[in-house]
Amino acid sequence: MKDASPQPIRLADYHPPSHLVEAVELTFRLAPRGTRVRSKIRFRANPAGLENGNLRLDGENLRLVSCALDGTPLTALDYLLTPEGLTVPAERLPGPSFTWEAEVEIDPADNTALEGLYTSGGMFCTQCEAEGFRKITFYPDRPDVMAPFTVRIESDLPILLSNGNPAASGPGWAEWHDPWPKPAYLFALVAGDLVAHSDRFTTMSGRAVTLNIWVRPGDEDKCAYAMDALKRSMRWDEEVYGREYDLDVFNIVAVDDFNMGAMENKGLNIFNSKYVLASQKTATDRDYDFIESIVAHEYFHNWTGNRITCRDWFQLCLKEGLTVFRDQQFSADTRSAPVQRIEDVLQLRARQFREDAGPLAHNVRPDAYVEINNFYTATVYEKGAELIGMLRRIVGAQEYRAALDEYFRRHDGQACTIEDWLAVFEDVTGRDLSQFKRWYTQAGTPRVSAEWQVAEGRLHLRLAQELPPTPGQPLKEPVVIPVAMGLLSPEGAELLPETTVILDGPELTRDFDLDEMARRAGIARPDHVIPSLLRGFSAPVILDAGLSRADRLVLLAHDPDPFNRWEAGRSLMRETLMEMLTGGAPDPALFDALDRLLAEDRLDAAFRALCLALPSEDDMAQAAHDAGLVPDPTAIHATRRAMQVAMARALQPRLAALYDAMDPGPAYSPDADQAAKRALRNSALTLLARIEGPARAKAHYAAATNMTDEIAGFTTLLETGDPDIARRFHDRWKDDRLVMDKWFMAQVAHAAPEQAVAIAEALTDHPLFDWTNPNRFRSVIGGLTSGNPAGFHDPTGAGYRFLADWLIRLDAKNPQTAARMSTAFETWRRYDADRQALITGALDRIAAQDGLSRDLSEMVDRIRAA
Ligand code: PHE
Ligand code: ZN
Repeated sequence: MKDASPQPIRLADYHPPSHLVEAVELTFRLAPRGTRVRSKIRFRANPAGLENGNLRLDGENLRLVSCALDGTPLTALDYLLTPEGLTVPAERLPGPSFTWEAEVEIDPADNTALEGLYTSGGMFCTQCEAEGFRKITFYPDRPDVMAPFTVRIESDLPILLSNGNPAASGPGWAEWHDPWPKPAYLFALVAGDLVAHSDRFTTMSGRAVTLNIWVRPGDEDKCAYAMDALKRSMRWDEEVYGREYDLDVFNIVAVDDFNMGAMENKGLNIFNSKYVLASQKTATDRDYDFIESIVAHEYFHNWTGNRITCRDWFQLCLKEGLTVFRDQQFSADTRSAPVQRIEDVLQLRARQFREDAGPLAHNVRPDAYVEINNFYTATVYEKGAELIGMLRRIVGAQEYRAALDEYFRRHDGQACTIEDWLAVFEDVTGRDLSQFKRWYTQAGTPRVSAEWQVAEGRLHLRLAQELPPTPGQPLKEPVVIPVAMGLLSPEGAELLPETTVILDGPELTRDFDLDEMARRAGIARPDHVIPSLLRGFSAPVILDAGLSRADRLVLLAHDPDPFNRWEAGRSLMRETLMEMLTGGAPDPALFDALDRLLAEDRLDAAFRALCLALPSEDDMAQAAHDAGLVPDPTAIHATRRAMQVAMARALQPRLAALYDAMDPGPAYSPDADQAAKRALRNSALTLLARIEGPARAKAHYAAATNMTDEIAGFTTLLETGDPDIARRFHDRWKDDRLVMDKWFMAQVAHAAPEQAVAIAEALTDHPLFDWTNPNRFRSVIGGLTSGNPAGFHDPTGAGYRFLADWLIRLDAKNPQTAARMSTAFETWRRYDADRQALITGALDRIAAQDGLSRDLSEMVDRIRAA
């Protein structure tokens, strides 16, 4: 039976726990089908607890063997046991302080949801965020209960790991002690036949830390880059935030079956192997980039998330927004800052703006949820990071650092709220942030529009903000929007050094004296001025800058802000594609401008590659929808193709020259410099293949010495129709799981739209298609939904049926990943009536399934309610 709709959990209903934990001791006797977990937990009544004083322990899928209070065994009459947990009434408790002991049995081999303790490729591992610990033992599984843990593991497996420092070990057992109080979601245990890539790090105060990356035998030669990224992250957090590591060891483990990217368990990070393992032959530059930023992200959580954690799951952005911001800062410092910013904004728009524009829009700090796993979203993470960036811009870098110092001083060891976070900033900077807080409590992407006139030697600029309604939030209050800006003359001279204006009401006007600006710039007074607004994407808003095509060409050629240079080009490309969609032809001026930009050799090659990239098909669908049109995914795909052909024709000599010039040579490095060259070279390759045919791609593929080049050749050949290429790639890589994920994904993403569903279907019959492995499932099903939108939106509805069938199937095993993948349907309102009916039909069919998970049913209900 489908459960009666589970009740939402509300932020407004938060109450402190009735009991706090002083210490936890756990003993695991590992066995795949019957692991015994013994717990000994020292409780004390919470003076701030407003509850009835009952002891409430969460617990799911546990077989209770025995339990006792202060050594006295309890009988079934002493407690209330439900499928969600166990309650001992206050009158049965020995007093305000007592020791709870329990033994439970669990079945890790049967745990396909990959939450709690599970097995993956012969090893045991855990995933406890957000609410997985309750599947390991009875416990107050909420982040505001923090305690030191001592763990004993008994198993014949050679490597036995848990959080904190190793305490003792012998044949068949190991003990670990984590002195830092932590919530249960940061608990971790790993056991397996693993080998370590080890190193050392000396902290700023001179403490020696052992670093280990644990992998399956055979993978140890693929850990060097992750280790290097870890050491650089540790140093960076010391230098930039003054944060030092606080244990004797730091362990990372790579596992093949993992729902997310990685997890910041205290002292024992667990990673999806995709974000650890890399070698020249098997990993692309993009993979290296992800490894670096995810290693950094999980490490940075040690302070922002672990030492200071969240009071409740509504505050998830407290750790995630801040930690994403920190990993973005790290990547910007490590690689090119403008390229990093453009890539972050591309992600934000592709995932978060999309979410904010549809039925799943929610606050950065949600007010209610049914299943918390459904709120690990782009809004909480990526928009959450943008809010930190705005705050930093508003208070300035120095005060930001002072506020962070105070945050760590004041709240170390605590479980905090967004109110605590903002109060620190208010106290340190003396500002009132009550209006800024609206960013956390209002959903939707604000729209900012600009108008200006030049008259009597003055520029008159007017900015206005508008906040469109989102589900459950019809009316909104103005937010605080920092708009970084400059002014350019029509020749591209900078008239105004960059300044930031704060738009905090419905509108704002500013006057600028042109004579004075011209005098300072040493030029004659211009009769036209081009505002360069929202430089560096200073706020997560949709800007209508009101710029003519000519103005944008000036910014593309001359804006000193690289972000806005790129943005001008992007907006010209989007406009051109929109015109082509309705029968127009591209403006040669755009191609001339791109040609000049590509020739600027002092520009970062990665930046030039970004300027050459077209808006995605999903971007175009949203742009069409915003323009009041009904997007046709097939036409969008064809238009983008036509544009690539036109660009290749117009830029052919330049692209061919770049293809030769950007060859990094035989000595391989995954560093930013070489990666940039490969990015530009491979962009040239794919564009040229549109007009030249496959010869260049064939040679490129044959000559490739690294996966970046190999996959670029492979996907180009898939598109130009080399009949044998998939088999050849398969035969070369069939024993490498991570490379085979690429093989599955590429064939679907690069299929002609009308063949994409059939190809995806055929791949799900391939012997290597293990759909219970989240990476493999995402490769094929996500390869269609994200990688091939025109194929997914096939007018027959075959793509929708395919997705619905697989979501239903996966939901029975792994609700979290099924629910996450259902977001492919979130844009259904954009499309024509036929497609809408097909999508809602697919959603209704999912909703009607017996035994649907809370995860997927919440998602389907929210998407459907639009
Ligand atoms: N907390 C993890 C991170 O952001 C993400 C995660 C959430 C992993 C839930 C697993 C489960 O780094
Ligand atoms: Zn995180």
